[in-house]
Amino acid sequence: MEIKKAVIPVAGMGTRFLPATKSMPKEMLPVIDRPVIHHVVEEAINSGIDDIIFITGRSKRSIEDYFDDSPELENHLKMKNKEKMLKIVQDISSMVDIHYIRQKEPRGLGDAILTARKHINDEPFAVLLGDDIIVNEKPCTKQLIDNFIKYGRSTIAVEEVPRDKTGSYGIIQGKPLDDSLYIMDDIIEKPAPEDAPSNIGAIGRYVFTPEILDCIKKTTAGVGNEIQLTDGIRLLKEKQKVYAYKFTGKRYDTGDKIEYVKAIIDFALNNEDMQEQIKEHITGLGM
Ligand code: G1P
Repeated sequence: MEIKKAVIPVAGMGTRFLPATKSMPKEMLPVIDRPVIHHVVEEAINSGIDDIIFITGRSKRSIEDYFDDSPELENHLKMKNKEKMLKIVQDISSMVDIHYIRQKEPRGLGDAILTARKHINDEPFAVLLGDDIIVNEKPCTKQLIDNFIKYGRSTIAVEEVPRDKTGSYGIIQGKPLDDSLYIMDDIIEKPAPEDAPSNIGAIGRYVFTPEILDCIKKTTAGVGNEIQLTDGIRLLKEKQKVYAYKFTGKRYDTGDKIEYVKAIIDFALNNEDMQEQIKEHITGLGM
């Protein structure tokens, strides 16, 4: 069984990065020279996905422009003999098949995923939330796909989160099968630390059987008065096994300012053209 489709919801407001996100989507914030969403799309492609459905909302047009051809810019680069940059720009628009569906009202993550239903067409699919960059040679989504192929069941990526941060995640309760795999017994959306069944949180990468869609459809508004994906997963695990997988890799939640800055520093330190000067700068700060 292959997983070829991915849903990437990008309809959120990005309030944590206001005022920058007043006129640009948070997913377009750059980590040096590539927007966060570029990294997410690359992860999908490197996991074998060839068909991406973006769920967009108001003021997300620049994401569409980013992944589209840009004839004027390409001509300009051609005329200036900037071949290397021309190739980079052209590669972005030929990366993958992308479709856009607009979520009219932001009614929650579950609702955003449901709007992709027609396009998903009863096939298993991946979901990648647009805020996280996960760095690892074998992409996180590919790790989930491999588990899905092995067991034929939905698999969600998890990691241990600080106890005082359970209120930012879907928190699972599960039975460990080995060092990295759990059978999910329950998942609770954003519990307070004292109510959380564990400190193992869903981090925004999922691979689902198509049955998740019916399950989401059956849910009513949950936390924040929104249709929650987590509530759909709760129903799904009553019908089918759901696995939680402790992925391997380094995750940056770029929706968080400090994590965003850390991502930029780490990417700069890993960039051959920049690393020496950035190291010098950091050393010079003498902290
Ligand atoms: C969403 C999900 C939550 C998950 C989180 C990961 O919440 O609802 O279950 O743990 O993504 O980032 P959000 O961050 O969109 O509020």
